Amino acid sequence: MKLKSLLKNKLTKKELELLPTSFDVVGSILIFLDFPKELIKKEKLIANILLKEHENIKTIVKKTEFYKGKYRTPKIKIILGEKTKESTYKENEVITKLNIETCYFSPRLGNERLRISKLIKSKESILVMFSGVGIYPLVISKNSKAKEIYGIELNKEAHKYALENLELNKVNNVNLIKGDAKKIIPKLNKKFDRIIMPLPKNAKDFLKDVLKVSRKNTIIHFYDFQHENEFSKTKEKIRKHVKKFRILRTIKCGQYAPRKYRICVDFKVL
Ligand SMILES: C[S@@+](CC[C@H](N)C(=O)[O-])C[C@H]1O[C@@H](n2cnc3c(N)ncnc32)[C@H](O)[C@@H]1O
Repeated sequence: MKLKSLLKNKLTKKELELLPTSFDVVGSILIFLDFPKELIKKEKLIANILLKEHENIKTIVKKTEFYKGKYRTPKIKIILGEKTKESTYKENEVITKLNIETCYFSPRLGNERLRISKLIKSKESILVMFSGVGIYPLVISKNSKAKEIYGIELNKEAHKYALENLELNKVNNVNLIKGDAKKIIPKLNKKFDRIIMPLPKNAKDFLKDVLKVSRKNTIIHFYDFQHENEFSKTKEKIRKHVKKFRILRTIKCGQYAPRKYRICVDFKVL
Protein backbone atom coordinates (compact mmCIF):
# COMPACT_ATOMS: atom_id res chain seq x y z
CA MET A 1 0.00 0.00 0.00
CA LYS A 2 1.29 3.44 -0.95
CA LEU A 3 0.23 4.95 2.38
CA LYS A 4 2.58 2.56 4.11
CA SER A 5 5.61 3.75 2.15
CA LEU A 6 4.64 7.42 2.64
CA LEU A 7 4.54 6.89 6.41
CA LYS A 8 7.62 4.69 6.60
CA ASN A 9 9.72 7.18 8.54
CA LYS A 10 6.87 8.53 10.68
CA LEU A 11 5.41 5.38 12.21
CA THR A 12 6.93 2.41 14.01
CA LYS A 13 7.03 -0.98 12.30
CA LYS A 14 4.12 -2.17 14.45
CA GLU A 15 2.05 0.93 13.66
CA LEU A 16 2.71 0.46 9.94
CA GLU A 17 1.30 -3.06 10.17
CA LEU A 18 -1.89 -1.68 11.72
CA LEU A 19 -2.58 0.88 8.99
CA PRO A 20 -6.22 0.61 7.90
CA THR A 21 -6.78 -0.76 4.42
CA SER A 22 -10.57 -0.61 4.33
CA PHE A 23 -12.15 2.68 3.31
CA ASP A 24 -14.87 4.16 1.09
CA VAL A 25 -14.71 7.34 -0.91
CA VAL A 26 -17.98 9.27 -1.20
CA GLY A 27 -17.28 12.28 -3.40
CA SER A 28 -14.62 14.35 -1.65
CA ILE A 29 -14.85 12.45 1.66
CA LEU A 30 -12.66 9.47 2.49
CA ILE A 31 -14.25 7.26 5.15
CA PHE A 32 -12.17 4.82 7.19
CA LEU A 33 -14.51 1.97 8.03
CA ASP A 34 -12.52 0.37 10.83
CA PHE A 35 -9.83 2.72 12.05
CA PRO A 36 -7.68 0.86 14.65
CA LYS A 37 -7.81 2.39 18.14
CA GLU A 38 -4.06 1.79 18.55
CA LEU A 39 -3.47 4.47 15.88
CA ILE A 40 -5.74 7.19 17.30
CA LYS A 41 -2.79 9.39 18.28
CA LYS A 42 -1.49 9.16 14.72
CA GLU A 43 -4.80 9.65 12.90
CA LYS A 44 -4.21 13.31 12.02
CA LEU A 45 -0.73 12.52 10.72
CA ILE A 46 -2.15 9.75 8.51
CA ALA A 47 -5.03 11.95 7.33
CA ASN A 48 -2.66 14.79 6.51
CA ILE A 49 -0.58 12.57 4.23
CA LEU A 50 -3.75 11.37 2.45
CA LEU A 51 -5.04 14.93 1.94
CA LYS A 52 -1.68 15.99 0.48
CA GLU A 53 -1.52 12.97 -1.84
CA HIS A 54 -5.10 13.05 -3.17
CA GLU A 55 -6.26 16.39 -4.53
CA ASN A 56 -9.89 15.24 -4.89
CA ILE A 57 -10.18 14.29 -1.23
CA LYS A 58 -11.06 17.25 1.00
CA THR A 59 -12.16 15.55 4.23
CA ILE A 60 -10.93 12.45 6.07
CA VAL A 61 -13.38 10.83 8.48
CA LYS A 62 -13.81 7.56 10.34
CA LYS A 63 -16.88 5.50 11.17
CA THR A 64 -17.14 5.26 14.94
CA GLU A 65 -20.40 3.29 14.86
CA PHE A 66 -21.72 1.09 12.07
CA TYR A 67 -25.21 1.31 10.51
CA LYS A 68 -27.68 1.43 13.37
CA GLY A 69 -31.32 2.06 14.23
CA LYS A 70 -34.35 2.25 12.00
CA TYR A 71 -32.68 4.69 9.61
CA ARG A 72 -29.55 2.47 9.30
CA THR A 73 -27.21 5.42 9.81
CA PRO A 74 -23.58 5.37 11.02
CA LYS A 75 -21.72 7.71 13.41
CA ILE A 76 -18.94 9.63 11.74
CA LYS A 77 -16.02 11.58 13.24
CA ILE A 78 -14.12 14.08 11.15
CA ILE A 79 -10.36 13.55 11.49
CA LEU A 80 -9.02 16.33 9.25
CA GLY A 81 -9.92 18.61 6.36
CA GLU A 82 -13.08 20.54 5.47
CA LYS A 83 -15.59 20.31 8.32
CA THR A 84 -18.47 18.80 6.40
CA LYS A 85 -20.31 15.50 6.26
CA GLU A 86 -22.18 16.45 3.10
CA SER A 87 -20.87 15.20 -0.22
CA THR A 88 -21.81 14.58 -3.83
CA TYR A 89 -21.30 11.15 -5.31
CA LYS A 90 -21.41 10.03 -8.95
CA GLU A 91 -22.44 6.52 -10.01
CA ASN A 92 -24.14 4.89 -13.01
CA GLU A 93 -24.98 8.24 -14.70
CA VAL A 94 -26.45 9.60 -11.44
CA ILE A 95 -25.34 12.44 -9.13
CA THR A 96 -26.31 11.99 -5.48
CA LYS A 97 -25.98 14.59 -2.76
CA LEU A 98 -26.16 13.32 0.80
CA ASN A 99 -24.97 13.67 4.38
CA ILE A 100 -22.91 10.58 5.18
CA GLU A 101 -24.03 10.58 8.83
CA THR A 102 -27.73 11.41 8.69
CA CYS A 103 -28.52 9.18 5.69
CA TYR A 104 -27.74 5.58 4.79
CA PHE A 105 -25.49 5.31 1.77
CA SER A 106 -23.06 2.70 0.44
CA PRO A 107 -20.94 3.29 -2.66
CA ARG A 108 -20.26 -0.47 -2.67
CA LEU A 109 -23.70 -1.32 -4.05
CA GLY A 110 -23.26 0.41 -7.40
CA ASN A 111 -22.92 -2.84 -9.36
CA GLU A 112 -25.97 -4.29 -7.66
CA ARG A 113 -28.07 -1.23 -8.53
CA LEU A 114 -26.96 -1.53 -12.15
CA ARG A 115 -27.70 -5.27 -12.16
CA ILE A 116 -31.31 -4.60 -11.15
CA SER A 117 -31.64 -1.77 -13.69
CA LYS A 118 -30.52 -4.07 -16.50
CA LEU A 119 -33.20 -6.64 -15.61
CA ILE A 120 -36.01 -4.11 -16.04
CA LYS A 121 -38.10 -4.38 -19.18
CA SER A 122 -39.69 -1.53 -21.06
CA LYS A 123 -42.70 0.14 -19.32
CA GLU A 124 -42.36 -1.67 -15.99
CA SER A 125 -43.83 -0.06 -12.84
CA ILE A 126 -41.30 -0.29 -10.02
CA LEU A 127 -41.50 0.17 -6.26
CA VAL A 128 -38.36 0.77 -4.17
CA MET A 129 -39.63 0.22 -0.65
CA PHE A 130 -36.77 1.87 1.21
CA SER A 131 -35.45 4.51 -1.12
CA GLY A 132 -32.96 6.41 1.09
CA VAL A 133 -31.39 9.35 -0.76
CA GLY A 134 -33.03 8.10 -3.96
CA ILE A 135 -30.10 6.18 -5.39
CA TYR A 136 -32.02 3.05 -6.55
CA PRO A 137 -34.89 5.00 -8.18
CA LEU A 138 -32.41 7.32 -9.90
CA VAL A 139 -30.08 4.59 -11.18
CA ILE A 140 -33.14 2.71 -12.48
CA SER A 141 -34.55 5.84 -14.11
CA LYS A 142 -31.26 6.58 -15.90
CA ASN A 143 -30.43 3.00 -16.87
CA SER A 144 -33.73 1.38 -17.84
CA LYS A 145 -36.93 2.01 -19.76
CA ALA A 146 -39.16 1.73 -16.69
CA LYS A 147 -42.46 3.55 -17.00
CA GLU A 148 -42.52 4.80 -13.41
CA ILE A 149 -40.58 4.31 -10.21
CA TYR A 150 -42.06 4.85 -6.75
CA GLY A 151 -39.83 5.18 -3.68
CA ILE A 152 -40.81 5.19 0.02
CA GLU A 153 -38.46 6.46 2.74
CA LEU A 154 -39.00 6.93 6.48
CA ASN A 155 -35.95 9.11 7.25
CA LYS A 156 -36.99 12.74 6.72
CA GLU A 157 -33.41 13.84 6.10
CA ALA A 158 -32.72 11.12 3.47
CA HIS A 159 -36.03 11.93 1.77
CA LYS A 160 -35.10 15.63 1.66
CA TYR A 161 -31.87 14.78 -0.18
CA ALA A 162 -33.75 12.37 -2.44
CA LEU A 163 -36.06 15.18 -3.58
CA GLU A 164 -33.04 17.39 -4.23
CA ASN A 165 -31.40 14.54 -6.15
CA LEU A 166 -34.45 14.22 -8.39
CA GLU A 167 -33.93 17.84 -9.41
CA LEU A 168 -30.18 17.41 -9.84
CA ASN A 169 -30.69 14.46 -12.19
CA LYS A 170 -33.63 15.92 -14.09
CA VAL A 171 -35.68 12.72 -14.09
CA ASN A 172 -39.43 12.78 -14.54
CA ASN A 173 -40.60 9.22 -13.91
CA VAL A 174 -39.74 9.00 -10.19
CA ASN A 175 -42.33 9.56 -7.46
CA LEU A 176 -40.95 9.75 -3.91
CA ILE A 177 -43.10 9.43 -0.79
CA LYS A 178 -41.95 10.15 2.77
CA GLY A 179 -43.24 7.81 5.43
CA ASP A 180 -43.41 4.29 6.81
CA ALA A 181 -43.74 1.72 4.01
CA LYS A 182 -46.23 -0.20 6.18
CA LYS A 183 -48.58 2.78 6.26
CA ILE A 184 -47.96 4.05 2.73
CA ILE A 185 -48.36 0.74 0.87
CA PRO A 186 -52.07 0.19 1.63
CA LYS A 187 -52.77 3.71 0.34
CA LEU A 188 -50.96 3.24 -2.97
CA ASN A 189 -53.84 1.44 -4.62
CA LYS A 190 -51.51 0.09 -7.28
CA LYS A 191 -49.83 -3.15 -8.33
CA PHE A 192 -46.19 -3.17 -9.39
CA ASP A 193 -44.26 -5.30 -11.90
CA ARG A 194 -41.14 -5.23 -9.72
CA ILE A 195 -40.50 -4.44 -6.06
CA ILE A 196 -37.06 -3.82 -4.54
CA MET A 197 -36.59 -4.34 -0.79
CA PRO A 198 -33.12 -2.98 0.11
CA LEU A 199 -33.35 -3.36 3.90
CA PRO A 200 -31.44 -6.59 4.57
CA LYS A 201 -31.72 -6.34 8.36
CA ASN A 202 -35.51 -6.67 8.42
CA ALA A 203 -36.99 -6.80 4.93
CA LYS A 204 -38.78 -9.99 6.03
CA ASP A 205 -41.05 -7.87 8.29
CA PHE A 206 -42.43 -6.21 5.15
CA LEU A 207 -43.15 -9.28 3.02
CA LYS A 208 -46.80 -9.33 4.04
CA ASP A 209 -47.17 -5.68 3.06
CA VAL A 210 -45.47 -6.20 -0.28
CA LEU A 211 -48.06 -8.75 -1.31
CA LYS A 212 -50.72 -6.02 -1.17
CA VAL A 213 -49.06 -4.27 -4.13
CA SER A 214 -47.98 -7.41 -6.02
CA ARG A 215 -49.82 -9.48 -8.59
CA LYS A 216 -49.07 -12.80 -10.26
CA ASN A 217 -45.62 -12.55 -11.90
CA THR A 218 -44.45 -9.52 -9.88
CA ILE A 219 -40.70 -9.87 -9.35
CA ILE A 220 -39.35 -9.12 -5.89
CA HIS A 221 -35.72 -8.37 -5.06
CA PHE A 222 -35.40 -9.40 -1.43
CA TYR A 223 -32.19 -8.48 0.43
CA ASP A 224 -30.87 -10.37 3.45
CA PHE A 225 -27.69 -10.93 5.45
CA GLN A 226 -26.70 -14.56 5.48
CA HIS A 227 -23.86 -16.98 6.25
CA GLU A 228 -22.59 -18.72 3.12
CA ASN A 229 -23.86 -22.11 4.34
CA GLU A 230 -27.30 -20.79 5.22
CA PHE A 231 -28.70 -19.15 2.09
CA SER A 232 -31.63 -21.57 2.31
CA LYS A 233 -32.76 -19.78 5.50
CA THR A 234 -33.63 -16.76 3.37
CA LYS A 235 -35.92 -18.94 1.27
CA GLU A 236 -37.60 -20.04 4.52
CA LYS A 237 -38.17 -16.39 5.52
CA ILE A 238 -39.91 -15.79 2.20
CA ARG A 239 -41.96 -18.98 2.47
CA LYS A 240 -43.41 -17.82 5.83
CA HIS A 241 -45.32 -15.03 4.08
CA VAL A 242 -45.49 -15.84 0.37
CA LYS A 243 -47.45 -19.00 -0.42
CA LYS A 244 -46.46 -19.50 -4.03
CA PHE A 245 -43.24 -18.17 -5.50
CA ARG A 246 -40.35 -19.22 -7.69
CA ILE A 247 -36.76 -18.22 -6.97
CA LEU A 248 -35.10 -16.84 -10.08
CA ARG A 249 -31.62 -16.41 -8.68
CA THR A 250 -29.64 -15.66 -5.52
CA ILE A 251 -26.87 -13.08 -5.82
CA LYS A 252 -24.06 -12.25 -3.40
CA CYS A 253 -23.76 -8.47 -3.41
CA GLY A 254 -21.27 -7.76 -0.68
CA GLN A 255 -19.35 -9.42 2.14
CA TYR A 256 -19.67 -7.95 5.63
CA ALA A 257 -17.76 -10.55 7.71
CA PRO A 258 -15.80 -13.71 6.97
CA ARG A 259 -18.18 -16.08 5.13
CA LYS A 260 -21.14 -13.70 5.70
CA TYR A 261 -22.81 -11.95 2.81
CA ARG A 262 -25.42 -9.43 1.83
CA ILE A 263 -27.51 -11.41 -0.62
CA CYS A 264 -30.35 -10.62 -2.96
CA VAL A 265 -32.93 -13.30 -3.68
CA ASP A 266 -34.86 -12.47 -6.85
CA PHE A 267 -38.20 -14.26 -6.86
CA LYS A 268 -41.42 -14.25 -8.81
CA VAL A 269 -44.82 -14.26 -7.12
CA LEU A 270 -46.91 -17.11 -8.59
C1 LIG B 1 -30.22 -0.11 4.04
S1 LIG B 1 -30.96 1.49 3.76
C2 LIG B 1 -31.09 1.50 1.96
C3 LIG B 1 -31.37 2.87 1.42
C4 LIG B 1 -31.23 3.00 -0.11
N1 LIG B 1 -32.12 2.09 -0.81
C5 LIG B 1 -29.79 2.78 -0.56
O1 LIG B 1 -29.49 1.72 -1.11
O2 LIG B 1 -28.96 3.68 -0.32
C6 LIG B 1 -32.62 1.20 4.31
C7 LIG B 1 -33.48 2.46 4.32
O3 LIG B 1 -34.79 2.08 4.75
C8 LIG B 1 -35.35 3.13 5.49
N2 LIG B 1 -36.46 2.57 6.26
C9 LIG B 1 -36.40 1.81 7.39
N3 LIG B 1 -37.63 1.44 7.79
C10 LIG B 1 -38.51 1.96 6.89
C11 LIG B 1 -39.92 1.93 6.77
N4 LIG B 1 -40.68 1.30 7.66
N5 LIG B 1 -40.49 2.57 5.72
C12 LIG B 1 -39.73 3.22 4.80
N6 LIG B 1 -38.38 3.30 4.88
C13 LIG B 1 -37.77 2.68 5.91
C14 LIG B 1 -34.17 3.65 6.30
O4 LIG B 1 -34.39 4.95 6.77
C15 LIG B 1 -33.04 3.55 5.27
O5 LIG B 1 -32.88 4.74 4.56
